[in-house]
Amino acid sequence: MLYQVVLYLHSWLRWGVVLLGALTLARAVHGWARAREWNQTDRRVQKLFIAFFDSQVLLGLTLYFLLSPLTPKSLDGFRVAMSNTLLRFFGIEHAFAMVLALIIAHGASDASRKAGHSTVKHRRWAVGLLIALLFIVVGIPWPVLPYGRPLLRTF
Ligand code: HEM
Repeated sequence: MLYQVVLYLHSWLRWGVVLLGALTLARAVHGWARAREWNQTDRRVQKLFIAFFDSQVLLGLTLYFLLSPLTPKSLDGFRVAMSNTLLRFFGIEHAFAMVLALIIAHGASDASRKAGHSTVKHRRWAVGLLIALLFIVVGIPWPVLPYGRPLLRTF
């Protein structure tokens, strides 16, 4: 039961991360291209995206270490996962891509916060967020893939 709840939340929150990520990226690129002053709303949107993303990662880690039957529980489990497309995806590739995206998004947010000039803030955030979003989009189990999951889970 708890497994289902967390899995559904993880599935839905994916859209929050992807859509808010796309809007945030558009705002950062626009700010960079127009040399617009970095303002409080830019920082708020940046923090909101990071909060969505961190929450999604927390749900993912809960699935990974506590609830999912698909993740390796031992070194032997990793060996088995390597030879099975589904287990390899959820046990290794998905988690690895998302942890990389997490490190990049946090790095870009910190780097933009520390920059002295507005254009540099927009640029650092735009470039880092673009790379993080690429890892996120590539790491999602889209329905067309052999290990794909539904676009929207319903009851
Ligand atoms: C370190 C970070 C993450 C870990 C460890 C993780 C782990 C997992 C695991 C173990 C599953 C399979 C659960 C199961 O079926 O038993 C899963 C499914 C999934 N994950 Fe993640 N995840 C992470 C981050 C993310 C992020 C950032 C996104 C998207 C923004 C995402 C999107 C999904 C989706 C769409 C599914 C399929 C859900 C469904 O069955 O409908 N994950 N994740």
